[in-house]
Amino acid sequence: MENTQWAYENLRSVHLELSTLCNSICPWCPRYVDFSPNVNPNIVEGAYTLERFKRHFPRDFIQQIEFWTFAGDYGDPCTCPEILDIIEYILSIKDCKMQINTNGGMRNTKFWQQLGELMRGSPDETYTQYQKRYVIFSVDGLEDTNHIYRRNVKWHKVISAMETYSDSGARGIWEFLKFKHNEHQKEEVLQIGKKLGFPVRFKNPNGFEGAPMPAKDKDYNISYEIHPAKWPRDGDGTLVTIPIKPIEATDKQLDFIKMINADDVKYKDVAHILEQPRSGCINCQAKTFGAGNEIRINHDGTVWPCSFFGHLSSKYLKGRIVSVVHQFQALGILEGIQNNLDNNTLKEILDNDPFRKVYESWDDNSVLLCSHSCGQEQNTMEKIYERPTNGR
Ligand SMILES: C[S@@+](CC[C@H](N)C(=O)[O-])C[C@H]1O[C@@H](n2cnc3c(N)ncnc32)[C@H](O)[C@@H]1O
Ligand code: SF4
Ligand code: SF4
Repeated sequence: MENTQWAYENLRSVHLELSTLCNSICPWCPRYVDFSPNVNPNIVEGAYTLERFKRHFPRDFIQQIEFWTFAGDYGDPCTCPEILDIIEYILSIKDCKMQINTNGGMRNTKFWQQLGELMRGSPDETYTQYQKRYVIFSVDGLEDTNHIYRRNVKWHKVISAMETYSDSGARGIWEFLKFKHNEHQKEEVLQIGKKLGFPVRFKNPNGFEGAPMPAKDKDYNISYEIHPAKWPRDGDGTLVTIPIKPIEATDKQLDFIKMINADDVKYKDVAHILEQPRSGCINCQAKTFGAGNEIRINHDGTVWPCSFFGHLSSKYLKGRIVSVVHQFQALGILEGIQNNLDNNTLKEILDNDPFRKVYESWDDNSVLLCSHSCGQEQNTMEKIYERPTNGR
């Protein structure tokens, strides 16, 4: 099979994690350990500088990229002190598309004004720029509810950021994770979104791992629990509570996870158990994310096939059940690859064809992460945005 998707010359989109810093403590976020406020020991806290960005991404590469996403998993891009300089630098080379995901609760109004001006482009071009670049504000409620999932985020900062950004004329989108504690605010959110000029996308959160989502303190005691929103019942659409699906794992699977958690197993010794052929075909979403052919780069400089791999790469899962095997296999099949931009150029990295095992697995669906994220039956993105009954 030929590597066309992750060939350097064919890349058109980059998902780059600009920062591993954050003002929020969202319980399910992989920046933290096990729903607590304790920072994941697998990550190094920090943010991209313009100087490091220039080293990792040469001008001709920036020319070729049509869509940059600044989101990541272990931090918020707007905590990156040099984000404006980085965006300005990219736009001085290429008038490209851009998406930024943020909780909106940091920085001052001057920052949001400047970000808006950059995202919007020059006033004459406002209409065309409007189609190109946008900020997604991840705001899961209003003054009395947003902080329940977005722990530590101050409402007055968020609303002031959204208003200032909106006043600049740039395009914004409001993404709202639905929970039991905020679902009654849907109409009010749509009204405020309309005033801001932001379309609102309601999303179904992850994080219900066989139980309500715990918001834990630093000693791993549960401070409070977060419950899922209701779902429209098939047929008449009445909103009903759907019980949280228990974790489906056999004793054999649980023993396997225990073994992985105990660190006494090497991937190569159990690869034959995990790399089983499965039915169904894969529809790789990295082919269509952004402007297509997307690559994912974490703040530590590591290059991954997509955001699903990037999300799991450093997640701290000791003692957990969900995603443990997926992570073990994902890291196992990529073990030994040279994928750090601090040591090699992106071209050098990709010329070595590091993700061969990933795309070759699509023939028989033998990589669990690909199968569960992009297999026919389980499309994670679709699940987040649409599918009501497909397990939480
Ligand atoms: C980890 S965040 C990083 C970007 C930024 N800090 C933010 O929160 O928007 C990446 C994306 O994950 C989303 N997210 C956070 N918690 C989630 C959850 N429990 N379920 C689904 N998506 C979630 C965020 O809303 C955002 O769109
Ligand atoms: S705002 Fe984003 S990065 Fe920060 S804790 Fe929440 S999900 Fe994680
Ligand atoms: S999980 Fe696999 S199939 Fe899905 S986007 Fe990533 S590399 Fe492609």
